[in-house]
Amino acid sequence: MPKTKTIHKKDSRPNAPGWLITLEGGEGGGKTTQVVRLRDKLTQAGFQVVTLREPGGTVISEQIRKVVLSAKNVGMAFTTEVLLFQAARAQIYREIVLPSLKAGKVVLMDRSHDSSSAYQGLVRGFGLKLIEQLNNISTQNTYPDLTILLDLPVEVGLDRVAKNRPEKVDRLDMEAKDFHQKVRQAYLDLAANDKQGRWQVVDASRGIDEIADDLWRLVAKKLKLE
Ligand code: TMP
Repeated sequence: MPKTKTIHKKDSRPNAPGWLITLEGGEGGGKTTQVVRLRDKLTQAGFQVVTLREPGGTVISEQIRKVVLSAKNVGMAFTTEVLLFQAARAQIYREIVLPSLKAGKVVLMDRSHDSSSAYQGLVRGFGLKLIEQLNNISTQNTYPDLTILLDLPVEVGLDRVAKNRPEKVDRLDMEAKDFHQKVRQAYLDLAANDKQGRWQVVDASRGIDEIADDLWRLVAKKLKLE
């Protein structure tokens, strides 16, 4: 068993010394695969790691996931969509993310705040100001230490999803290609306007191992493991 790493308190979140790392991006960028790779490397390095996905990650949030993503719910109002993603987020932060950060763990998330900023804020048109206010409520003002955007051309991403996970067609996957193109641009804009200095953009059109190496380099640098 690896020894548990001592994590030193950070000025930005003195009462919650753990690290919050989020992977973001459109469809088919390999976020889920890379979360597993990172978890294994961080565990080997001696950290206590919690991996989560949004929407989901708790019993209540997984129930909300079903409602918000079900292909049957095509009639869902955009406002309902905004609030359901936030409801799922409020629950996972209250139940798991915040206690884990307080306990000094590394929390690795497959999507979080920035999915709402990109999809609902910029693409659906609710605006970043409103989404930021809602994110602040649901996360209790907790922001990631590091956010990695897995960026790739929309056609490549959608092709990968169709080939590797043909069963995965949720309500948002059903949107037209133009929607996914806007999502890609929204993420690139968020990364380009990085006020908190937390974004890194990685070319996700490459092979899994190459991407995993890049991600580990970025995480190791952030956690000062080099
Ligand atoms: P995924 O977990 O398979 O990527 O599916 C989640 C979908 O939900 C994806 O299309 C992105 C979308 N989403 C939002 O639109 N807003 C959010 O806040 C979150 C967390 C996800």
